[in-house]
Amino acid sequence: MAVATISGTAVHYVDVGRGSPPLVLLHAFPLHLGMWDEQVVALSSRWRMILPDLPGFGGTEPLADPGATTIDGFADLVAGLMASLGVGPAVVGGLSMGGYVAFSLLRRHPETVAALVLADTRAGADTPEVIERRNNQQRQVGEEGTDGLVETMVGNLLSDDTKANRPEVVERARALMHGCSPAGVIGALEAMKNRADAVPMLEQVRVPVLVVVGEHDGPSPPDVAAAMADAIPGARLEVVPGAGHLSSLEAPDAFNQVLESFLTRL
Ligand code: MLT
Repeated sequence: MAVATISGTAVHYVDVGRGSPPLVLLHAFPLHLGMWDEQVVALSSRWRMILPDLPGFGGTEPLADPGATTIDGFADLVAGLMASLGVGPAVVGGLSMGGYVAFSLLRRHPETVAALVLADTRAGADTPEVIERRNNQQRQVGEEGTDGLVETMVGNLLSDDTKANRPEVVERARALMHGCSPAGVIGALEAMKNRADAVPMLEQVRVPVLVVVGEHDGPSPPDVAAAMADAIPGARLEVVPGAGHLSSLEAPDAFNQVLESFLTRL
């Protein structure tokens, strides 16, 4: 694990492997870069991989003012990290919240993006119902800490099959979420609530795009992924059988296979 100070924030990251183009992977909420362990094992012998912990998760401290946390700010940190490591245009992959950051990176720092992997994510901004849910989650975490939120997320993100039959995956997801700090969670919820709508930019995307979705993803279901892939010129859609929202963690072999196949054809 390494640290780079970007605009005053000490960003923890992993920089591993070799090979081009580099791959930048952005984690989901409320997990951290450890969620990519299986991808590192499978891919780092052929590709250089850069995995940051976004502020408030893993080893990266939350930003001083949770209320001022934005997805665009996360994207600026990722672009700053890439510049500090001398990483040129990369394949930028994000799962769910990581995908929101990937869209922002493409909008704000297009020179950093050679291709996109949009996993279990959505282009649209939050609806009023989702904003209300996030407001409640912020109140809950502010009053009680993150344990209740983590249990809700474990219940919502994993597929029924994973929850019923794969206790080790459930435990792993729970452990990855327990690393989050209350301030980081409150900040990330604020950032997600206020993120820009990426739908208008879909038809203008000119880099290769892979859209991946778990067959049983509840928060960002396959029909949402299919509509997003349809709107992006030339995008490829892959559905990961049996997986829920955390497809890279629930079905790593299938996820790695579609990712590797995309990377080798670039
Ligand atoms: C995630 O997995 O990153 C979250 O489900 C994103 C969200 O809450 O919109």
